[in-house]
Amino acid sequence: MRASATPELMLEPVLDGPEGKGREAIGLGHTAAKGLDVRHGTILSLEDINVSFDGFKALTDLTLYIGVGELRCIIGPNGAGKTTLMDVITGKTRPNSGTAFFGETLDLTGMSEVQIAQAGIGRKFQKPTVFEALSVFENLELAQNTDKSVWASLRARLSGEQRDRIDEILATIRLSDSRRRPAGLLSHGQKQFLEIGMLLVQEPQLLLLDEPVAGMTDAETEFTAELFKSLARKHSLMVVEHDMGFVGSIADHVTVLHQGQVLAEGSLDKVQADERVIEVYLGR
Ligand SMILES: Nc1ncnc2c1ncn2[C@@H]1O[C@H](COP(=O)(O)OP(=O)(O)OP(=O)(O)O)[C@@H](O)[C@H]1O
Ligand SMILES: [Mg+2]
Repeated sequence: MRASATPELMLEPVLDGPEGKGREAIGLGHTAAKGLDVRHGTILSLEDINVSFDGFKALTDLTLYIGVGELRCIIGPNGAGKTTLMDVITGKTRPNSGTAFFGETLDLTGMSEVQIAQAGIGRKFQKPTVFEALSVFENLELAQNTDKSVWASLRARLSGEQRDRIDEILATIRLSDSRRRPAGLLSHGQKQFLEIGMLLVQEPQLLLLDEPVAGMTDAETEFTAELFKSLARKHSLMVVEHDMGFVGSIADHVTVLHQGQVLAEGSLDKVQADERVIEVYLGR
């Protein structure tokens, strides 16, 4: 069954399909990404995805839909295929079979990693990758100008609108007061927030976050929960996390992966009460 629609987010104009001008226009297109065709209320459709590594099946007939504006958590034991799933969505790993669509028309299996990022899918890896010698502001500035070299970006004058957007994001990630600090001096958690900010300046429609609260303090974890809840609806989020307290505080919908397959889906309470899920987690 498809995830339910969020009507007010479905009214955006429909851009050309993945062929011809549409795909080129996807380029560095914040605006093109806004034209993503989500008329059925689904931002991501994965159907019958199979991935094998030298005969080992990392994903088996995986089918998963993410609704527009949804905050979905993916849980499952180590080796379940959670990171592989993100690798498929971002074009890092090609599925052996199956289909992966972003919106109704963008076939992710035919796009490069760069094209996928430019089309509006942002990914945060576990380890923060900020430029430590540059200030917080400069890191955001660089992320905004993905089409320019580092020096060209830093020399270019920002438009008022770009500056406002960075200011807004600094407030969102609670780093306004640290804007001039070198990123290398931030705490681990703050670096994670900066990296989320670096994704947000690119205005992705779908954000993929792999174990975002690993290594965070309780206060940072709590703020991350608030942040993600505030990002949902405007963005769609897919969050992989082992921390069940965190998952419980943010997720309306949880997918449990096990051995490369969807084992259960629904509210956290519902999946936690599922006998098969209990067996997997208790390792019986
Ligand atoms: N490039 C690869 N080559 C071979 N095997 C791989 C490769 N990538 C992943 N695997 C295997 O696929 C399975 C799924 O791995 P994956 O990293 O997706 O799990 P995960 O659910 O993210 O686990 P964790 O919770 O530990 O991060 C594992 O058995 C892993 O060893
Ligand atoms: Mg993983």
